[in-house]
Amino acid sequence: MIRVLFVCLGNICRSPLAEAIFNSKVEQAGMKSQFRCDSAGTSDFHIGELPDERTIKCAAKYNLPLNHRGRQVNRTDFRDFEYILAMDDHNLRNLNNLKVRYGFKDKEIHLMRDFDSDTLGLSVPDPYYGGEEGFEEIYQILDKALDGFLAQVKETHHLYA
Ligand code: 4NP
Repeated sequence: MIRVLFVCLGNICRSPLAEAIFNSKVEQAGMKSQFRCDSAGTSDFHIGELPDERTIKCAAKYNLPLNHRGRQVNRTDFRDFEYILAMDDHNLRNLNNLKVRYGFKDKEIHLMRDFDSDTLGLSVPDPYYGGEEGFEEIYQILDKALDGFLAQVKETHHLYA
């Protein structure tokens, strides 16, 4: 089982959308039984909450099931998830600090857009304080980066549908 955790700040916009898009890609590839995905936030701002209503609307537009409540990253996530993908630099820094504090200093944390060869080092922009168009923008960004991520994971793990 390949375990993937998507991480942003609030766990109500970017990371639950990334999780929903990736689940759909995995299902379309006929590989559902080989993955377990989840998402979490570095902050405790929205624990227990449903995704942002603009996230829900965007997911509905693309027929993506959303089934998540906000939660904060915790110590066991560093042990339980093979891949931890941060949405931006700020999340990456926080995760790299947390992993040291929790005794997982060698754990590699990835930046989401590093899986899109056109956007190495770039962040998935935080859409929270913007309008609905920001959610369409992050959908397009995530869709492309997640294609790259799935392709890389398939190659690394020799997965064939
Ligand atoms: P997310 O967006 O990290 O993509 O879930 C945000 C959600 C909430 C806040 C910031 C960003 N906030 O400040 O409450």
